[in-house]
Amino acid sequence: MEFKIKSGDLARQKTPCLILGVFEKRKLSGPAETIDKASAGHLKDRLESGDLDGEKGRTLMLYGVPDIDAERVLLVGCGKRKDFTRARYQEAMAAAVNLLNQTRASEALCTLAELAPDGLDGYQAIRDLITTAADQSYRYTQTKSDKHPLKHPLKRLNLWVSKKQEQDAAERAARDGTAIAAGIALAKDLGNLPGNICTPTYLAEQAQALAGDASGLRVEVLDEDAMQELGMGALLSVSRGSRQPAKLIVMHYDGGKQGAKPVVLVGKGLTFDAGGISIKPASEMDEMKYDMCGGAAVIGTMRAVAALGLPLNLIGVVPASENLPDGAANKPGDIVTSLSGQTIEILNTDAEGRLILCDALTYVERFNPAVVIDLATLTGACVIALGKHPAGLFSRNDKLANEVLAAGDYAGDRAWRLPLWDDYQTQLDSNFADMANIGGRDAGAITAACFLSRYTKKYPWAHLDIAGIAWRSGKEKGATGRPVALLTQFLLGRC
Ligand code: BES
Ligand code: MN
Ligand code: ZN
Repeated sequence: MEFKIKSGDLARQKTPCLILGVFEKRKLSGPAETIDKASAGHLKDRLESGDLDGEKGRTLMLYGVPDIDAERVLLVGCGKRKDFTRARYQEAMAAAVNLLNQTRASEALCTLAELAPDGLDGYQAIRDLITTAADQSYRYTQTKSDKHPLKHPLKRLNLWVSKKQEQDAAERAARDGTAIAAGIALAKDLGNLPGNICTPTYLAEQAQALAGDASGLRVEVLDEDAMQELGMGALLSVSRGSRQPAKLIVMHYDGGKQGAKPVVLVGKGLTFDAGGISIKPASEMDEMKYDMCGGAAVIGTMRAVAALGLPLNLIGVVPASENLPDGAANKPGDIVTSLSGQTIEILNTDAEGRLILCDALTYVERFNPAVVIDLATLTGACVIALGKHPAGLFSRNDKLANEVLAAGDYAGDRAWRLPLWDDYQTQLDSNFADMANIGGRDAGAITAACFLSRYTKKYPWAHLDIAGIAWRSGKEKGATGRPVALLTQFLLGRC
C-alpha cells in the first residue's frame, strides 16, 4: 500500500472515498463538520435518520454527498469522545480499512489524524494510521492457492492534515511508517511460514535475498563447520537433535561513520521447537513454528533501517536451528561447553533458546558493540507473568532499559521491565557444571534472563522476551511482526 500526505480544502479533495470520524451520539469530528457544512447539512440529515450513532467499530458508506468532490464518504464510528484512546484511534482506522478492502475503492483520503487523542504528536498520529492500515491489509498467502484473497484491495491511502506546518512531521511519519510496515510484513511472513519451509537454511536465504534488494545490507552465514571451529558447543548441541543444519546469520548495515560502534540485535531463530527429548505436549505444538520470531523481527528491522538509510551502524545476528528429538539430540543431564568456555548442564532440552542465544551473544563481542539487544520467544513464564500485551524487558543498565521502554511507548509497541537481580542467579546452580540451563518453576522468565546475563558482561545489554507478543492464537492465529516497531523506533532515536 502507498501512503501520501495531503492538505487543503477538504470539500474540494477529489478522491474515491473520504474517511470521516463520528463520535457517539452523532457528534461530528472537525473534518466531518466541514463536509457537513459544505453539503448543506447532508451528513447530519443522514445521521438523524438513525443509520449510525457513532459507536466504535461501526461504519456507514454514503454515496452522492452533494457539493463535495469526493465520490463516497465513509463515516467511521469512534465511540465516546472521552474514551477515544490510542487503541480506539487505531481501531477506527482498522474498521475503515477493513470496509474499504471489501469495496471497489482502491484509493481513499483519511482525515482521522485530526482526531488523534491527547498524548500523540502529529508524527505519531500519522505513523499509527499507516502501520494500522498496513496491519489490517496484510494477508498470508504463500502456502495458499488463492494468492489474492482481496479482490479490490486498498492500494493508496492518502492522509489529510489540516495545518500546513504539520506537513513536515507528517511526511517523515509517512516515510518511517511505510518502512516499518514493510519490516513488520516481512517478519509476519517469516513467522507464519511452516517449519518444513522456514528452516534455518531458508531463513539464511531470505536474509541473503534481502541484502540483494535492500542496498546497504551485507550478509554472512556461518555453517555448522564454521561454528564448530569457533567452539559454539551450546548452539550446536541443540541442532544435533535435528536433520536441518543450523546457521548463524550475520547481517551488516553500515549507515554510520566508519568505526562508530554498532548497535547489535540478536534474534532467536528457532524454526521449530518440539522441545527435544523433553518433548512438548501435542496440543498447539504447531504454534512452535513461531519460535523464530525474534530472528524474523531482526530481519524485518534490518529491512526497515536499510529502506530508511538511517545514519548508524547496525548488525543483526540470528542463530537459527530446530529443536527436535533425533538420535543425537541433547539428553537431560548432558553437559555442553559454550563458546564463552562456561559449561552448561542441560536439565531440560526444551530450554534451548538460551543455549543458541548464549553462543550468539558471546560471538557478537567481536563487533565491539555500543549496545546489544536480544529478542526471543524465550519462555512461557513470560506470557504467564505479563500476558500478551507488553514484551518482557530485562537489563542491568537503567539508561538502556529506559531507552527501550520509551521507544516502545512512543511506537505503541510496548515493553514492561522485570527485575534481573542477582538474588535469582542461584536458581541456576548445578552440581556438575558451571550452570544449569533451567532455574526451576519460580520466576522462569527472570531465570532465563539471568542465564543470558552470564554471557553479556562485556557490553551494555537488554533482553526482550517476546513469547507473548510475537504471535496471536485462536481465530486470528498468526505472527504479529512485533517488536519491529519498537526496535526501529529505538534506532530512530539514536540517529
Ligand atoms: N520457545 C519456548 C518458549 C515459548 C513458550 C514461546 C510458549 C512461546 C510460547 C522455549 O524454548 C521453551 O520451551 N521454554 C520453556 C522453558 C522451560 C523448560 C524452563 C518453557 O517456557 O516452558
Ligand atoms: Mn523450548
Ligand atoms: Zn523455544
